[in-house]
Amino acid sequence: MTSGRSTTRMPVPPIAVRIAVIEALSATLRRFALEPADGAVLAPAAPGAHILVALDDGGGTVRRNAYSLIEPPDRLNRYEIIVRHAEASRGGSAYLHKRAGVGDILRVLPPQSAFPPVASARQHVMVSAGIGITPFLFYRRAFETTGGSWELHQCCRPDEATAFAGLADLDTEQRVHIHAGRGAFDLDAVLCRQPLGTHLYCCGPAGFMAAVRDRATALGWPPSRLHEERFGDTTAGTPFTAWLGRSRREITVGAHESLLEALETAGLEVPFLCRGGVCGACRVGVTEGGIDHRDRVLTEGERTAGDTLLACISRAAGSRLVLDL
Ligand code: FES
Repeated sequence: MTSGRSTTRMPVPPIAVRIAVIEALSATLRRFALEPADGAVLAPAAPGAHILVALDDGGGTVRRNAYSLIEPPDRLNRYEIIVRHAEASRGGSAYLHKRAGVGDILRVLPPQSAFPPVASARQHVMVSAGIGITPFLFYRRAFETTGGSWELHQCCRPDEATAFAGLADLDTEQRVHIHAGRGAFDLDAVLCRQPLGTHLYCCGPAGFMAAVRDRATALGWPPSRLHEERFGDTTAGTPFTAWLGRSRREITVGAHESLLEALETAGLEVPFLCRGGVCGACRVGVTEGGIDHRDRVLTEGERTAGDTLLACISRAAGSRLVLDL
């Protein structure tokens, strides 16, 4: 399993953007177009890039929610994202669905991509579920330019099939396939007909991605040709405390926040990129305490050693960790 680029990024100043468009796609899906508030020209972004939107969780805590771009920002000088209103929202999607309006100013961190398509791939197969389609909408635009060979399989609820078909812009070459409802997608058939040199990209809920990964592995796909992007509340768990050994401070990590978020709230600067456990940028040393590893970066040897974790997604296995910070 590959995890995209390993470039690290220290926190950078956010930029102000104005909500230019809000479009309801379904009962729980909205498309947002964000323009630079100062009229500046947005820098290009790589396919698979996401932005981090700073949003108040309603309790005074500012969180950074990651949203994949669905279009190259230089096309219309906009960041375009799709947001699903999650029932368990900590404020991010609830704020954008219920309180945000056209003209409002948001603060975002510029796009970075930890999930780019592989340039040398002979064929690109994208498999997504629900809002997991978003990075592949950008991929598709890129393939129009590069001429890459591709197909996209989107699994969704029947009541959202029309919305996703509209987003994916069904093409005459039948490379876009919308699979509505349980049992509608024959994954084995798709995986078995691909030529050598095909790369498989998957984005969706954790269980969906695990099922695709397991099936591809069982059918002989090498890990180097499998790529995943995580999204959603993959950081939830039991609250715990972290003692920062070098700075002699203790922080509390809540049930619905990541260790990285808790460290940022405490004013510590920890490098990050994907915030989804796939790039390795937020590696932190651990000197004491069991770890619940949830990333897709560390080797089995590193997990067994137990002296490092990825702060954006992994947690304490018990009630306390001691960190080398
Ligand atoms: S920021 Fe990418 S693994 Fe944590």
